Amino acid sequence: MAVISVPTDYNAEDLYVDLRSIVGHQLFLKCEGFNFAGSIKLKAATEMVEAAEESGALRPGCVLIESSSGNLGVALSIIAASKGYDFLCVTDARCNRSARRFMEAMGGQVHIVTEPAASGGLLGARIALVQRLCASDKRYVWLNQYANAANWRAHYRTTAPAIARHFPRLNVLFIGTGTTGTLMGCARYFRKLHRHVRVVAVDSVGSVTFGGEPGCRMIPGLGTSVKPALLDESFVDDVVHVREVDTIRACHRLARHGFLFGGSTGTVVSGAVEWLAQRPGQNLTAVAIAPDLGERYLDTIYHASWLHALYGDEMLHHTRGTANLARVAERRV
Ligand SMILES: Cc1ncc(COP(=O)(O)O)c(C=O)c1O
Repeated sequence: MAVISVPTDYNAEDLYVDLRSIVGHQLFLKCEGFNFAGSIKLKAATEMVEAAEESGALRPGCVLIESSSGNLGVALSIIAASKGYDFLCVTDARCNRSARRFMEAMGGQVHIVTEPAASGGLLGARIALVQRLCASDKRYVWLNQYANAANWRAHYRTTAPAIARHFPRLNVLFIGTGTTGTLMGCARYFRKLHRHVRVVAVDSVGSVTFGGEPGCRMIPGLGTSVKPALLDESFVDDVVHVREVDTIRACHRLARHGFLFGGSTGTVVSGAVEWLAQRPGQNLTAVAIAPDLGERYLDTIYHASWLHALYGDEMLHHTRGTANLARVAERRV
Protein backbone atom coordinates (compact mmCIF):
# COMPACT_ATOMS: atom_id res chain seq x y z
CA MET A 1 0.00 0.00 0.00
CA ALA A 2 1.12 3.55 -0.71
CA VAL A 3 -0.26 6.44 1.34
CA ILE A 4 0.70 9.94 0.20
CA SER A 5 -0.11 13.50 1.11
CA VAL A 6 1.47 15.33 -1.85
CA PRO A 7 0.89 14.32 -5.50
CA THR A 8 4.57 14.03 -6.35
CA ASP A 9 5.12 11.29 -3.79
CA TYR A 10 3.76 8.50 -5.98
CA ASN A 11 5.36 7.15 -9.15
CA ALA A 12 5.26 3.57 -10.45
CA GLU A 13 8.94 2.90 -11.15
CA ASP A 14 8.80 -0.85 -11.68
CA LEU A 15 6.19 -1.52 -14.36
CA TYR A 16 7.29 -3.04 -17.70
CA VAL A 17 5.32 -4.52 -20.61
CA ASP A 18 6.97 -7.48 -22.33
CA LEU A 19 6.34 -6.70 -26.02
CA ARG A 20 7.66 -9.95 -27.45
CA SER A 21 4.25 -11.33 -28.44
CA ILE A 22 3.28 -8.00 -30.05
CA VAL A 23 6.45 -6.90 -31.88
CA GLY A 24 8.32 -10.18 -32.20
CA HIS A 25 11.42 -8.99 -30.33
CA GLN A 26 12.46 -9.24 -26.70
CA LEU A 27 11.66 -5.66 -25.78
CA PHE A 28 10.56 -4.50 -22.34
CA LEU A 29 8.61 -1.25 -22.25
CA LYS A 30 9.12 0.78 -19.08
CA CYS A 31 5.81 2.51 -18.33
CA GLU A 32 6.31 6.01 -16.95
CA GLY A 33 2.68 7.13 -17.17
CA PHE A 34 1.49 5.91 -13.79
CA ASN A 35 1.69 8.96 -11.56
CA PHE A 36 -0.59 11.96 -10.95
CA ALA A 37 0.87 13.85 -13.92
CA GLY A 38 0.44 10.85 -16.20
CA SER A 39 3.96 11.10 -17.59
CA ILE A 40 7.69 10.86 -17.05
CA LYS A 41 7.85 14.67 -16.89
CA LEU A 42 6.82 14.58 -13.25
CA LYS A 43 10.39 13.54 -12.44
CA ALA A 44 12.05 16.40 -14.34
CA ALA A 45 9.52 18.93 -13.05
CA THR A 46 10.04 17.86 -9.42
CA GLU A 47 13.83 17.97 -9.69
CA MET A 48 13.85 21.36 -11.46
CA VAL A 49 11.46 22.97 -8.96
CA GLU A 50 13.41 21.64 -5.99
CA ALA A 51 16.71 22.87 -7.48
CA ALA A 52 15.20 26.34 -8.06
CA GLU A 53 13.91 26.45 -4.49
CA GLU A 54 17.28 25.38 -3.11
CA SER A 55 19.12 28.02 -5.14
CA GLY A 56 16.71 30.71 -3.89
CA ALA A 57 15.49 31.54 -7.41
CA LEU A 58 11.99 30.23 -6.66
CA ARG A 59 10.30 31.76 -3.62
CA PRO A 60 6.73 32.30 -2.39
CA GLY A 61 4.99 34.83 -4.67
CA CYS A 62 6.89 33.73 -7.78
CA VAL A 63 5.11 32.64 -10.97
CA LEU A 64 6.45 29.51 -12.63
CA ILE A 65 6.58 29.90 -16.41
CA GLU A 66 7.51 27.22 -18.92
CA SER A 67 7.40 26.41 -22.60
CA SER A 68 5.85 22.96 -22.89
CA SER A 69 3.90 20.98 -25.46
CA GLY A 70 1.87 19.41 -22.69
CA ASN A 71 3.35 16.94 -20.28
CA LEU A 72 5.85 19.18 -18.49
CA GLY A 73 3.14 21.81 -18.22
CA VAL A 74 0.79 19.26 -16.68
CA ALA A 75 3.47 18.14 -14.21
CA LEU A 76 4.35 21.73 -13.26
CA SER A 77 0.69 22.64 -12.82
CA ILE A 78 0.41 19.85 -10.24
CA ILE A 79 3.54 20.91 -8.40
CA ALA A 80 2.55 24.59 -8.52
CA ALA A 81 -0.90 23.74 -7.11
CA SER A 82 0.53 21.59 -4.35
CA LYS A 83 3.19 24.15 -3.36
CA GLY A 84 1.08 27.30 -3.81
CA TYR A 85 2.82 28.90 -6.83
CA ASP A 86 1.09 30.46 -9.83
CA PHE A 87 1.88 28.81 -13.16
CA LEU A 88 1.84 29.96 -16.80
CA CYS A 89 2.38 27.44 -19.61
CA VAL A 90 3.37 28.77 -23.04
CA THR A 91 2.51 26.25 -25.70
CA ASP A 92 1.30 25.92 -29.31
CA ALA A 93 -1.53 24.28 -31.22
CA ARG A 94 0.08 20.83 -30.93
CA CYS A 95 -0.66 20.83 -27.20
CA ASN A 96 -3.65 18.54 -26.91
CA ARG A 97 -6.92 19.80 -25.49
CA SER A 98 -7.00 17.53 -22.46
CA ALA A 99 -3.50 18.64 -21.34
CA ARG A 100 -4.66 22.25 -21.64
CA ARG A 101 -7.81 21.52 -19.62
CA PHE A 102 -5.77 19.64 -17.02
CA MET A 103 -3.46 22.61 -16.44
CA GLU A 104 -6.41 24.97 -16.17
CA ALA A 105 -8.14 22.62 -13.72
CA MET A 106 -5.03 22.82 -11.53
CA GLY A 107 -5.31 26.63 -11.55
CA GLY A 108 -2.63 27.15 -14.21
CA GLN A 109 -2.86 29.58 -17.14
CA VAL A 110 -2.21 28.43 -20.71
CA HIS A 111 -1.00 30.72 -23.51
CA ILE A 112 -1.10 29.30 -27.05
CA VAL A 113 1.40 30.65 -29.58
CA THR A 114 0.09 30.49 -33.15
CA GLU A 115 2.78 32.20 -35.26
CA PRO A 116 6.12 30.40 -35.78
CA ALA A 117 9.33 32.43 -35.37
CA ALA A 118 11.27 33.21 -38.56
CA SER A 119 13.94 30.80 -37.34
CA GLY A 120 13.15 28.18 -34.72
CA GLY A 121 9.51 27.57 -35.69
CA LEU A 122 6.77 27.39 -33.07
CA LEU A 123 9.22 26.32 -30.37
CA GLY A 124 11.37 29.39 -31.12
CA ALA A 125 8.26 31.60 -30.85
CA ARG A 126 7.30 30.03 -27.52
CA ILE A 127 10.73 30.57 -26.04
CA ALA A 128 10.88 34.17 -27.30
CA LEU A 129 7.58 34.89 -25.54
CA VAL A 130 8.78 33.32 -22.28
CA GLN A 131 11.95 35.46 -22.45
CA ARG A 132 9.94 38.64 -23.07
CA LEU A 133 7.64 37.93 -20.12
CA CYS A 134 10.58 37.15 -17.79
CA ALA A 135 12.27 40.41 -18.80
CA SER A 136 9.05 42.32 -18.12
CA ASP A 137 8.30 41.00 -14.61
CA LYS A 138 10.77 39.69 -12.00
CA ARG A 139 8.17 37.40 -10.43
CA TYR A 140 8.39 35.02 -13.40
CA VAL A 141 10.73 32.07 -12.88
CA TRP A 142 11.59 30.10 -16.02
CA LEU A 143 12.97 26.64 -15.28
CA ASN A 144 13.92 26.22 -18.95
CA GLN A 145 13.66 22.47 -19.39
CA TYR A 146 15.78 22.67 -22.57
CA ALA A 147 18.90 23.81 -20.70
CA ASN A 148 18.30 22.93 -17.04
CA ALA A 149 20.75 20.29 -15.74
CA ALA A 150 18.18 19.25 -13.12
CA ASN A 151 16.12 17.88 -16.05
CA TRP A 152 18.71 15.20 -16.90
CA ARG A 153 19.78 14.76 -13.25
CA ALA A 154 16.24 13.57 -12.44
CA HIS A 155 16.77 10.59 -14.76
CA TYR A 156 20.34 10.02 -13.64
CA ARG A 157 19.04 9.71 -10.08
CA THR A 158 15.80 7.77 -10.70
CA THR A 159 14.98 6.34 -14.16
CA ALA A 160 18.39 4.92 -15.06
CA PRO A 161 19.22 3.25 -11.73
CA ALA A 162 15.72 1.73 -11.62
CA ILE A 163 16.28 0.16 -15.07
CA ALA A 164 19.77 -1.05 -14.12
CA ARG A 165 18.36 -2.61 -10.95
CA HIS A 166 15.61 -4.50 -12.78
CA PHE A 167 17.74 -5.48 -15.81
CA PRO A 168 21.27 -6.32 -14.64
CA ARG A 169 21.92 -7.95 -18.04
CA LEU A 170 20.65 -5.03 -20.10
CA ASN A 171 22.26 -4.69 -23.56
CA VAL A 172 20.40 -1.80 -25.12
CA LEU A 173 18.17 1.04 -23.97
CA PHE A 174 15.93 3.02 -26.36
CA ILE A 175 14.95 6.56 -25.39
CA GLY A 176 12.81 9.08 -27.24
CA THR A 177 14.17 12.60 -27.38
CA GLY A 178 12.45 15.90 -26.76
CA THR A 179 14.58 18.13 -24.54
CA THR A 180 16.94 15.10 -24.32
CA GLY A 181 16.68 15.21 -20.51
CA THR A 182 15.68 11.54 -20.26
CA LEU A 183 18.33 10.55 -22.80
CA MET A 184 21.17 12.50 -21.21
CA GLY A 185 20.38 11.41 -17.64
CA CYS A 186 20.22 7.74 -18.62
CA ALA A 187 23.15 7.92 -21.07
CA ARG A 188 25.42 9.59 -18.50
CA TYR A 189 24.44 7.01 -15.87
CA PHE A 190 25.05 3.97 -18.07
CA ARG A 191 28.27 5.39 -19.56
CA LYS A 192 29.64 5.91 -16.04
CA LEU A 193 28.36 2.78 -14.29
CA HIS A 194 27.46 0.18 -16.94
CA ARG A 195 29.63 1.03 -19.96
CA HIS A 196 28.52 -2.03 -21.96
CA VAL A 197 24.88 -0.85 -22.23
CA ARG A 198 24.18 0.76 -25.62
CA VAL A 199 21.99 3.84 -25.42
CA VAL A 200 19.98 4.50 -28.57
CA ALA A 201 18.20 7.81 -29.11
CA VAL A 202 14.92 7.69 -31.02
CA ASP A 203 13.79 10.89 -32.70
CA SER A 204 11.12 11.92 -35.20
CA VAL A 205 11.83 12.58 -38.85
CA GLY A 206 11.68 16.37 -39.22
CA SER A 207 13.40 17.02 -35.88
CA VAL A 208 16.74 18.88 -35.94
CA THR A 209 18.04 17.42 -32.65
CA PHE A 210 20.62 15.18 -34.35
CA GLY A 211 20.99 17.26 -37.50
CA GLY A 212 18.88 16.82 -40.60
CA GLU A 213 16.29 19.01 -42.24
CA PRO A 214 13.49 20.52 -40.15
CA GLY A 215 10.08 19.21 -41.20
CA CYS A 216 6.45 19.30 -40.18
CA ARG A 217 5.73 17.21 -37.08
CA MET A 218 2.33 16.95 -35.44
CA ILE A 219 2.93 14.57 -32.55
CA PRO A 220 3.95 16.34 -29.33
CA GLY A 221 6.66 15.21 -26.93
CA LEU A 222 9.47 14.23 -29.28
CA GLY A 223 11.61 16.17 -31.70
CA THR A 224 12.70 19.79 -31.79
CA SER A 225 13.02 22.66 -34.22
CA VAL A 226 15.95 24.06 -32.18
CA LYS A 227 18.83 21.78 -31.10
CA PRO A 228 18.47 21.16 -27.33
CA ALA A 229 21.21 22.69 -25.18
CA LEU A 230 21.26 19.61 -22.92
CA LEU A 231 22.33 17.27 -25.69
CA ASP A 232 25.89 15.91 -25.69
CA GLU A 233 26.03 13.41 -28.55
CA SER A 234 29.25 11.85 -27.26
CA PHE A 235 27.14 9.92 -24.73
CA VAL A 236 24.79 8.50 -27.40
CA ASP A 237 25.68 5.23 -29.12
CA ASP A 238 23.16 5.33 -31.95
CA VAL A 239 20.27 7.39 -33.32
CA VAL A 240 17.13 6.15 -35.09
CA HIS A 241 14.67 8.45 -36.88
CA VAL A 242 11.02 7.47 -37.16
CA ARG A 243 8.35 8.83 -39.53
CA GLU A 244 5.10 9.92 -37.90
CA VAL A 245 3.11 7.37 -39.94
CA ASP A 246 5.25 4.63 -38.39
CA THR A 247 4.71 6.14 -34.94
CA ILE A 248 0.97 5.96 -35.46
CA ARG A 249 1.11 2.43 -36.78
CA ALA A 250 3.03 1.34 -33.68
CA CYS A 251 0.52 3.10 -31.39
CA HIS A 252 -2.38 1.35 -33.10
CA ARG A 253 -0.64 -1.99 -32.99
CA LEU A 254 -0.16 -1.69 -29.23
CA ALA A 255 -3.76 -0.49 -28.82
CA ARG A 256 -5.03 -3.60 -30.60
CA HIS A 257 -3.47 -5.57 -27.76
CA GLY A 258 -5.09 -3.43 -25.07
CA PHE A 259 -2.16 -1.06 -24.43
CA LEU A 260 -3.11 2.56 -25.10
CA PHE A 261 0.13 4.57 -25.13
CA GLY A 262 1.02 8.11 -26.17
CA GLY A 263 2.58 9.10 -29.48
CA SER A 264 6.18 9.16 -28.36
CA THR A 265 5.86 5.58 -27.14
CA GLY A 266 4.83 4.61 -30.68
CA THR A 267 7.94 6.38 -31.96
CA VAL A 268 10.26 4.67 -29.50
CA VAL A 269 8.75 1.22 -30.09
CA SER A 270 8.87 1.66 -33.86
CA GLY A 271 12.51 2.81 -33.72
CA ALA A 272 13.49 0.02 -31.34
CA VAL A 273 11.87 -2.67 -33.49
CA GLU A 274 13.64 -1.33 -36.58
CA TRP A 275 17.00 -1.26 -34.76
CA LEU A 276 16.54 -4.77 -33.33
CA ALA A 277 15.40 -6.15 -36.70
CA GLN A 278 18.77 -5.08 -38.16
CA ARG A 279 20.57 -7.25 -35.56
CA PRO A 280 18.90 -10.66 -35.79
CA GLY A 281 20.00 -13.59 -33.67
CA GLN A 282 21.84 -11.49 -31.09
CA ASN A 283 19.41 -12.33 -28.29
CA LEU A 284 19.70 -8.83 -26.81
CA THR A 285 18.00 -7.71 -23.62
CA ALA A 286 16.35 -4.46 -24.62
CA VAL A 287 14.34 -1.85 -22.75
CA ALA A 288 12.45 1.11 -24.20
CA ILE A 289 10.94 3.96 -22.21
CA ALA A 290 7.23 4.79 -22.64
CA PRO A 291 6.90 8.42 -21.46
CA ASP A 292 3.11 8.51 -21.11
CA LEU A 293 -0.22 6.81 -21.79
CA GLY A 294 -2.68 7.25 -24.66
CA GLU A 295 -5.75 8.91 -23.20
CA ARG A 296 -4.45 12.41 -23.97
CA TYR A 297 -4.21 11.43 -27.63
CA LEU A 298 -7.74 10.08 -28.19
CA ASP A 299 -8.62 13.15 -30.29
CA THR A 300 -5.47 12.89 -32.40
CA ILE A 301 -3.49 9.70 -32.83
CA TYR A 302 -6.53 7.56 -32.12
CA HIS A 303 -9.05 9.68 -34.02
CA ALA A 304 -9.93 8.82 -37.61
CA SER A 305 -10.72 12.34 -38.83
CA TRP A 306 -7.49 13.76 -37.43
CA LEU A 307 -5.50 10.98 -39.04
CA HIS A 308 -7.23 11.38 -42.35
CA ALA A 309 -6.87 15.17 -42.41
CA LEU A 310 -3.13 14.94 -41.79
CA TYR A 311 -1.98 11.78 -43.48
CA GLY A 312 -4.76 10.95 -45.93
CA ASP A 313 -5.47 7.51 -47.26
CA GLU A 314 -2.00 6.12 -46.50
CA MET A 315 -2.80 6.15 -42.81
CA LEU A 316 -6.33 4.81 -43.18
CA HIS A 317 -4.91 1.87 -44.99
CA HIS A 318 -2.74 0.98 -42.03
CA THR A 319 -5.39 1.48 -39.36
CA ARG A 320 -7.84 -1.02 -40.79
CA GLY A 321 -7.16 -3.48 -37.98
CA THR A 322 -8.25 -0.85 -35.48
CA ALA A 323 -11.91 -1.55 -36.17
CA ASN A 324 -13.65 1.65 -35.10
CA LEU A 325 -11.01 3.97 -36.50
CA ALA A 326 -11.25 2.26 -39.85
CA ARG A 327 -15.03 2.21 -39.91
CA VAL A 328 -15.40 5.91 -39.10
CA ALA A 329 -12.72 6.75 -41.62
CA GLU A 330 -14.28 4.69 -44.39
CA ARG A 331 -17.51 6.63 -44.01
CA ARG A 332 -15.59 9.84 -44.68
CA VAL A 333 -13.89 8.81 -47.92
C1 LIG B 1 5.23 12.50 -24.42
C2 LIG B 1 6.69 12.58 -24.14
N1 LIG B 1 7.55 12.03 -24.98
C3 LIG B 1 8.88 12.06 -24.76
C4 LIG B 1 9.42 12.65 -23.67
C5 LIG B 1 10.93 12.65 -23.45
O1 LIG B 1 11.35 13.92 -23.45
P1 LIG B 1 12.72 14.54 -22.96
O2 LIG B 1 13.69 14.32 -24.04
O3 LIG B 1 12.31 15.95 -22.83
O4 LIG B 1 13.16 13.97 -21.65
C6 LIG B 1 8.55 13.26 -22.81
C7 LIG B 1 8.99 13.93 -21.68
O5 LIG B 1 9.56 13.50 -20.79
C8 LIG B 1 7.15 13.21 -23.02
O6 LIG B 1 6.29 13.75 -22.16
